[in-house]
Amino acid sequence: MKKITIAIDGFSSCGKSTMAKDLAKEIGYIYIDSGAMYRAVTLYCIENNLFNPDGSVNSAELEKRIDSIRISFVLNKETSRPETCLDGVNVESRIRTMDVSSRVSLVAALGFVREALVRQQQEMGKAKGIVMDGRDIGTVVFPDAELKIFVTASAEIRAQRRYDELKAKGQEVSFDEILNNVQERDRIDQTREVSPLRKADDAIVLDNSNMTIAEQKEWLKNEFQRAANV
Ligand code: DC
Repeated sequence: MKKITIAIDGFSSCGKSTMAKDLAKEIGYIYIDSGAMYRAVTLYCIENNLFNPDGSVNSAELEKRIDSIRISFVLNKETSRPETCLDGVNVESRIRTMDVSSRVSLVAALGFVREALVRQQQEMGKAKGIVMDGRDIGTVVFPDAELKIFVTASAEIRAQRRYDELKAKGQEVSFDEILNNVQERDRIDQTREVSPLRKADDAIVLDNSNMTIAEQKEWLKNEFQRAANV
């Protein structure tokens, strides 16, 4: 069966990763969470004092170091899900904190960071058979992907999902703080100069505001079968 490339883009916290992971597992494809890579670089900046006191990024220093930051994925055997490593250390839970979430858009807006990560992402997808989710996968990373999906849902619904997820992990968070974070990230992601979040002309839109995870899964599987002619 021919392998294809699947690009899933969309707003933050709209369930892209869950659907992308589930599909990849079911069809035996590699799954890459490109947002996790931007989050890992952000964590690197926090841990190496590359945020200036005014909250901006020390981009001159980060640019010098960007090619030496190693991001990789390891499979968690219990959950059969890939987890993110930074310089060989598993940082999966550390890249999901509010501290990282509230700073990652600044890091993801830097052209040299995007160039370095896009290069790595294209390398990972060379052999096809990959599902990658993010913001610019269908527009920049894999413009020739056979299947492109653009996922969206209202900001309130996305904030509620994120709130439930963090609560379930035992993190103390407020709904309003999360809603602000979701709206602020939408704004930065859509208005940044380099690779802003936008739907590729040939992407299929999925508004999952009123869909269950099972319904999305079914929908995506059908789209995959159509695109791969299986
Ligand atoms: O999908 P996420 O929320 O984990 O992404 C984290 C941040 O990284 C988000 O602010 C958007 C950015 N991002 C990006 O600019 N390009 C990508 N391909 C993936 C994520």
